[in-house]
Parts: sequence; structure tokens; C-alpha cells
Amino acid sequence: MKISLARNSGFCFGVKKALEEVEKIKNKYCVYILGQLIHNKQVINELKKKGIKIIDDVDSIGKGTVVISAHGIPDKLKKKIKEKNLKIIDTTCPLVEKVHNITKELEKQGYNMIIFGDREHTEVKGIAGNLNAPVIINNASGISAFNKKYALVSQTTQDQEEFGRTAKELRKRIKELKVMDTICSATKQRQNEAKKLAKKVDMMLVIGDFSSANTRRLEQICLKIVETRHIETASELKAGWFKGKAHIGITAGASTPDWIIKGAIERIKNEFQ
Ligand code: F3S
Repeated sequence: MKISLARNSGFCFGVKKALEEVEKIKNKYCVYILGQLIHNKQVINELKKKGIKIIDDVDSIGKGTVVISAHGIPDKLKKKIKEKNLKIIDTTCPLVEKVHNITKELEKQGYNMIIFGDREHTEVKGIAGNLNAPVIINNASGISAFNKKYALVSQTTQDQEEFGRTAKELRKRIKELKVMDTICSATKQRQNEAKKLAKKVDMMLVIGDFSSANTRRLEQICLKIVETRHIETASELKAGWFKGKAHIGITAGASTPDWIIKGAIERIKNEFQ
């Protein structure tokens, strides 16, 4: 049985940078990560073992260092942290920062903002938190005809085809719509490579946290092409999945570390090949 790993699987540069920054300060006194640094339980558990605390808000802390995740936060929350005289390590991905800047600028130009994304995702909350009542959608349904001037952006990790379909649909209903494709290059590459590989194999294995939106999107993309299984770690692999398969493809979400991907490949080779 052949095993192929899709290009651009696993950590994106934004996640790598965030973890490197945390690595530098992990031994300091009172290090807090605001929200999920990355959507991966195994990595977060390792950080917790090193004494790093995960917090949901900064109200209860009076001193120490606050790490802002790669997903970013609204400007007013950053201001609040500064006003409390807490040290900030800002690991916001430059490509998320770019969406913040684009949306603030478009709003200044008089556009009403529409964000294509998951309402509950930290990145979307961060972008929306800087805007006046943006509309957040994950498809075009529910959007009726608008006469005002609108601009559409996307959460950086959304599915390119879904975004394209939604933009097309909205163009029919909104008189003046500016579309900015803000899906990040790392996401596009990962999705395109997964799609390419899925067409050549008998089964795709998608590795990443069940709560990771970009991993789930990889699963949905591959499922449209071939039998696909989503696992968090090697322990979930089942012998039956590999019976009669000649070629297995593997991809992994942007927050899946190499050691988890390698662990899955090793187990397949040792037990199921
Ligand atoms: Fe940045 Fe894209 Fe990764 S926005 S954090 S490079 S998935």
C-alpha cells in the first residue's frame, strides 16, 4: 500500500510563528494565552504542562504577559490589555491583520461589511469587533436584496469554492458589492493540494483537531472526491479502513504538528500496510 502526504500539510507559517513566540517566553513568570493559541488539543496540553495558562478574558489578571493568538483580537481588546499595563506578545498572523486593515478601510469608504465565516470563530470575532454591525454569513441564504453599498470579505481559512459561490449569489441580490477574496494563500495551497491528491488515491486521511475549522473543511473537500476519514491522532486509526486499498493520501490542518502526522504514518506502516 502506497502512502502519499499532500504538499502543504500541517502547520502554516502563521501557526509556526505563534508557537515560536510562545516557546521563547514559556519559562517566564505569569504567561497567559488569550483563547486558543491554535486549535489543537495535543499542542495546547503540552503548553499547559509547561505552566502556560489559557484565559478567556483579561479581567481577572493584574500582571504578566498576554499572548494574542494568530487569529487576532479586536483593537478595543488590545487597548484594554495595554491599559492594564500587561505585556503583550502579539502573534496575530499578518494575513489576518491584513483582513482587519482591509475591512476597517472599506468601512471608512462607506461600505457595509459582510464577513463570510464562522460566527463563533475567534478570527471572525476579531474582525467583526472592529466594525459597525457587520453581517456574518456562511452561505448566501438569508440575504435578501440590499440597496446599500456592501463589501464581502472572507475568514482566512474558508473554502474557496464556497466563497466563490456565495459571492456569485450575492452579486445577484446586492446592487453595489465589492468582493475581496481574503482567504489566505496557505489555506488555498493546502486545499488545492488535498484536492489534487484525493483524485489519485483510494482513501484520504485528514489529520487535525475535530474543532479545527480548516481541518474540517479539508475533510469536506476530500469527501466530495473520495472516501475520507478524519482523525485527531494515530490512536483512532482502524484496520478495516485500509482493507483493499492500494493508495492512501494524507493531509493535515494548519494547526496539526508534524509529530502527530508522523505518528499516524508510522502506525499505518507498522500495523496496516
Ligand atoms: Fe495565517 Fe492563514 Fe495560517 S491566515 S495563521 S497563514 S491559515
